[in-house]
Amino acid sequence: MAAINFKKITNLYFLKVINNMKKLQQAFLVALVSLFFLISCNNNPTTEQSMKKCSQTSWGTADNKPVYLFTLTNSKGDIVKISNYGGTVTSWLTADKNGKIADVVVGFDSLSGYLAKPPYFGSTIGRYGNRIAKGIFSIDTATYHLATNNGANHLHGGNKGFDKVVWDVVPTPDSLASLTLHYLSVDGEEGYPGNLDVTVVFTLSDDNTLSFDYSATTDKTTPVNLTNHSYFNLTGDITQTILNHRLQVHADKFTPVDTGLITTGVLQDVKETPFDFLQPHAIGERIASVPGGYDHNFVLNRTTADNELVATVTDAVSGRVLEVFTTEPGMQFYTGNFLDGTIKTSQGIAIQQHTALCLETQHFPDSPNKLAFPTTLLKPGEKYHTVTAYKVSVASVK
Ligand code: BGC
Repeated sequence: MAAINFKKITNLYFLKVINNMKKLQQAFLVALVSLFFLISCNNNPTTEQSMKKCSQTSWGTADNKPVYLFTLTNSKGDIVKISNYGGTVTSWLTADKNGKIADVVVGFDSLSGYLAKPPYFGSTIGRYGNRIAKGIFSIDTATYHLATNNGANHLHGGNKGFDKVVWDVVPTPDSLASLTLHYLSVDGEEGYPGNLDVTVVFTLSDDNTLSFDYSATTDKTTPVNLTNHSYFNLTGDITQTILNHRLQVHADKFTPVDTGLITTGVLQDVKETPFDFLQPHAIGERIASVPGGYDHNFVLNRTTADNELVATVTDAVSGRVLEVFTTEPGMQFYTGNFLDGTIKTSQGIAIQQHTALCLETQHFPDSPNKLAFPTTLLKPGEKYHTVTAYKVSVASVK
């Protein structure tokens, strides 16, 4: 009996020791996680730490959720501002050939500008970037009706696309010029099937590259086509048009559209058309022969699955060069045709037609209804992952 009791006591003693060790381990883990949160960009308001490459300020509220403006800074002194409202790039301050800093993207200084629903300035676009004809598509035997917010068609995710929601901020160490945003788009949102879990990582690297890493998963098959809708003007002066910017696009083909800007399904050769940018051309050179201006998807000449250089824009006056890299098969080239001066910058300058251009990397428009186009359907168990990067540099451009 005595021996059994001794064994019991010994066992109890060891159990207690193990329990205490477990508690210690748990306490250590909690301390570690708390430390991580403490140093994360989104939990540590702006201070003058030289190591800090991401800082955060409060920017108001939307949908009763806090909105922040994040500032990413690199070693070259480039500054990119991004809000978790719409995953929006609001500003990119970068030097010209004379070292003069200016903003090369269109954006506002305050949240109110975005709440007034501008045409997607700098926003993250989803669930489907570009148009879906009549907002209708079918998957197997089910037909889905999406919000129609562009005439009879669905554009850029509908009435309240990813550009108009408040994204969750995922903690990232503020020693990195990086911001991670997350959004759960629920089943049925804007008519789309399935809960879509989306994460976008924005990173400003020291070579002045702003990259967008998109990933998503779903619990029902759904179309997904995420992009960024930054409007660039490399002069840094919104009173200037982009018509003298020179553009090169590595695309032998483009997708022509009907009068409602819906792709016809044809992949047309750019040869002998104003869409031939295989060699650089001034954007204004042939724009008059494109009714309404450029608003077309280019079929990119891809050779690998990597993040490849697909387009280059140069501005001789500022010397700035914008290079676009992507893993996507297509890119919408839009010359700000619908900008008509009614929207004003935070400084009160009217934003006129053709004063900015967009290079929206993506899958082809209306893919859910154009079955010969590369599929945009994401199935449960699969992972959506695409990367796009914009790099700004300075060269003596002739
Ligand atoms: C579309 C344009 C549209 C613009 C702003 C672009 O991506 O192609 O047709 O007007 O976004 O909504």
